[in-house]
Amino acid sequence: MSKRLQEEIARRRTFGIISHPDAGKTTLTEKLLLFGGAINLAGAVKARKAARHATSDWMKMEQERGISVTTSVMKFNHRDFEINLLDTPGHQDFSEDTYRVLTAVDAALMVIDSAKGVEAQTEKLMEICRMRNTPVITFINKLDREGMDPLDLLADIEEKLQIECAPLAWPIGMGKRFKGVYSLYRKQLNLFTPGAETRNQELITIEDLADARLDELLGDQAIELRGDVELLEGAANPFDLEDFLKASQTPVFFGSAVNNFGVRELLDAFVELAPAPGPRMTETREVRPDEEQFSGFVFKIQANMDPAHRDRIAFLRICSGKFERGMKVRHHRIGKEVALNNAIIFMAQDRAHIEEAYPGDIIGLHNHGTIKVGDTFSSKEPLKFTGIPSFAPEHFRRVRLKNPLKVKQLDKGLTQLAEEGAVQVFRPLLGADWILGAVGVLQFDVTMERLKNEYGVDAVYEGIDFATARWIDCEDAKKLEEFQKKNQANLALDAEGNLAYLASSEWRLGYVQEQWPEIVFHKTREQG
Ligand code: G4P
Repeated sequence: MSKRLQEEIARRRTFGIISHPDAGKTTLTEKLLLFGGAINLAGAVKARKAARHATSDWMKMEQERGISVTTSVMKFNHRDFEINLLDTPGHQDFSEDTYRVLTAVDAALMVIDSAKGVEAQTEKLMEICRMRNTPVITFINKLDREGMDPLDLLADIEEKLQIECAPLAWPIGMGKRFKGVYSLYRKQLNLFTPGAETRNQELITIEDLADARLDELLGDQAIELRGDVELLEGAANPFDLEDFLKASQTPVFFGSAVNNFGVRELLDAFVELAPAPGPRMTETREVRPDEEQFSGFVFKIQANMDPAHRDRIAFLRICSGKFERGMKVRHHRIGKEVALNNAIIFMAQDRAHIEEAYPGDIIGLHNHGTIKVGDTFSSKEPLKFTGIPSFAPEHFRRVRLKNPLKVKQLDKGLTQLAEEGAVQVFRPLLGADWILGAVGVLQFDVTMERLKNEYGVDAVYEGIDFATARWIDCEDAKKLEEFQKKNQANLALDAEGNLAYLASSEWRLGYVQEQWPEIVFHKTREQG
């Protein structure tokens, strides 16, 4: 086991930001990147967000490859740490993509709007973090505005997200009375000056809150802070690193992203507390990051990032060993050895060929149609990383070709788009239809646009009377056969040949489940 490998692993942090739209994810991302010196990138993040509001703009923007490339994975440095920040699509219609991105991170940063508390999308994303025991750090944003009482915010998080809160900082007032934040663990006061986007605020160390300087600096609000901290000492949970790493506790910070306030403290705490890349499960065994053998899995495929090449980039998260340019690895699903000659890494606004990379890093592989979401690559041992899910679609459309001669192109296009995870494709057991399934309806617009532009297919959608789907299996082959016979009109095969039951309503699904207790209905399915 090489010392260098261990050192490189120890200084890596790979994370994603989760939040409900408008809580301040884009703003915070921008400020974090500014600390890392990736200033150009910060602009790109904002531009992308600006274009996200309308679907058509969003698609145009996606086609302006430069921006989507750089914002999918953002690598920056802070102190001695190498940080990989993975972007998660903000629009809830692309939440499936977000879920998969979250399989590639080691920690998450949750942003909450202090006026709104926990919102719907945050709850959903937290569910994914909980499923995977991903440690979460919380940033309560927009303290420069009037919001909920900080104690109520903590109670809201604890109740709705089922996670214990451990405040590591405490706000002094809010809105017009917002004076700053007191770091409970560093015993430092960070005073807020509205509108000043200073990156190096001076922190005032105040070990003892009885210190008279506090009264000079905060006036009446010093008494409030003392009262709050006394209350917290009795009522709040003390921070426990173990509990945080187990994902049963979240450390909480307060600030104002747009004012770049509290962001530095957040980042400092983040690199100190968040875990370095850890072991990951495969179907056969647990893989430790410091194993000499290189391994990694693909969690996302992004198409058409370079207009000149019409390429598709597969994003691979390295799980163990060192990546070296030109190394040969096995692509286990297709049983082939491939040389990774021009893997790319995403830095600032460029993508560059990389010479080496380590666990936690994300590298981009050129994909010519052979790589799927969920694929594992490793030096030699056949491995298959687990836990990269597909979610049961909630929206369905039938595809009708305008020109029947384009059947082949349609087939190819839909197969590739399904492999990318852009949309799910079902072929009913009866008939020759293509039925598309999506978790969010915007996925349909993007699919149609791409079928036209990339595959020359002119098609339209027709509504179809399905509202939900489940993948099914059964230990008893005879029962399964019987079920198939009776339910043919509702059965289809997905792009990988797995059997799925499509139901016209949740009620109908429940009814069928009751009738067929031997059949197992799965809401999610492992990729690959
Ligand atoms: P998102 O990516 O989570 O959707 O949120 P985003 O950062 O775009 O922030 C949403 C809105 O909240 C933006 O305002 C942003 O400026 C504002 N915001 C972010 N952080 C803070 C904060 O600390 N305090 C206050 N008061 N506002 C904050 P907008 O008007 O929608 O856009 P913009 O024109 O300001 O960019």
